[in-house]
Amino acid sequence: MINNLISKRVENLPPYLFVEITRKIAEKKAKGEEVISFAIGDPDIPTPSHIIDRLCQAAHDPANHRYPETDGLPELRQAVARWYRQRFGVSLDADKEVLPLIGAKEGIAHIALCFIDPGDIALVPDPGYPVYSVSTMLAGGEPYYMPLIGENNFLPDLDAIPVDVLKRAKLLWLNYPNNPTGAVAELDFFNRAIEFARRHDLAICHDGPYTEVAFDGYQPVSFMQADGAKEVGVEFHSLSKSYNMTGWRIGMAVGNPTMINALMRIKSNLDSGIPQAVQYAAIEALSGPQDCIEGHNAVYQKRRDLVIDVLNRIGLEAEPPKASLYIWAKVPEGYNSTDFTTDLLEQTGIVVTPGLGYGSSGENYVRLSLTITDEELMKGLSRLAEWRERA
Ligand SMILES: Cc1ncc(COP(=O)(O)O)c(C=O)c1O
Repeated sequence: MINNLISKRVENLPPYLFVEITRKIAEKKAKGEEVISFAIGDPDIPTPSHIIDRLCQAAHDPANHRYPETDGLPELRQAVARWYRQRFGVSLDADKEVLPLIGAKEGIAHIALCFIDPGDIALVPDPGYPVYSVSTMLAGGEPYYMPLIGENNFLPDLDAIPVDVLKRAKLLWLNYPNNPTGAVAELDFFNRAIEFARRHDLAICHDGPYTEVAFDGYQPVSFMQADGAKEVGVEFHSLSKSYNMTGWRIGMAVGNPTMINALMRIKSNLDSGIPQAVQYAAIEALSGPQDCIEGHNAVYQKRRDLVIDVLNRIGLEAEPPKASLYIWAKVPEGYNSTDFTTDLLEQTGIVVTPGLGYGSSGENYVRLSLTITDEELMKGLSRLAEWRERA
């Protein structure tokens, strides 16, 4: 009977990609089979100990046992502003242009409610992090999918968006370094996007949680470094991937003060902020020693090279990414992403993410994440190679 009461909003939701994958893994494990997962972008390396020490210390302070403020501790907003200045040379007003989040995902989901009314459009990358389109739908709007293809270096072709779509569009979603393709964007692309947003009266939401995960000395830029970024958009960022803090749930939105204020208004009605001990841990992460980032990237880079080497040897085309935690590999001739993923799991116990889960342009791809221990990675790669060689 309760089934009949569920809202259309929920009924119409696609299943969240990783819930399905986690279910399949649990099913296999329950049968006693060994599963090696390259699926989820969740760092296996622990949070650096100086950050955990600060978290534990703050957890003992009764001042941090009470409700936090929605807009976060002023010291955290100041630490975010300082970090943006040091890392990107970007100036932010800590009171008006910075908003701490319960992880970037939370802010990404809620900002749709600030801009999208029923019938409005959000322009979203395809393939893309699923939350951009799902939050648009939950707000009653429609996603318009911008294909990201290899020939365009996985950047959207903004000039190909039809005029009637642009008339109804309010938000333009961008994400570099990109999940799932591993592509990067430079300032000239962001400058063009800003000019486009001005011309078509759009707000830009740039999602940049992977700017600190980069290889071979490459330093990704922030959207906020582009001229006029603050006039048209915000950037979502996160401590999840930079400092291996996915489990603590903390991120931030920075940029246009009107957009930040709208997000704050929605959030203050829906949540009660981030646990303060976690906020102190974030201050420590952003203000403390940064050499841990280089250490993590060296680990990921070694894994990236091993994965690329094996994939290319067994006929799965993939470019080594300059940044992000992901390898975007073309499935062999005769397969689509779902068949390949299913066969691989059934026959080897290896889990990769089907590209189709990120949108129809991902149909011929799978995503492998580098957040798997070295031991599992080696085991998984040799199993994968044997499987393809047998085939
Ligand atoms: C592109 C992208 N944005 C946002 C997030 C979510 O980050 P957080 O852990 O801060 O919610 C992820 C997590 O995988 C991601 O890949």
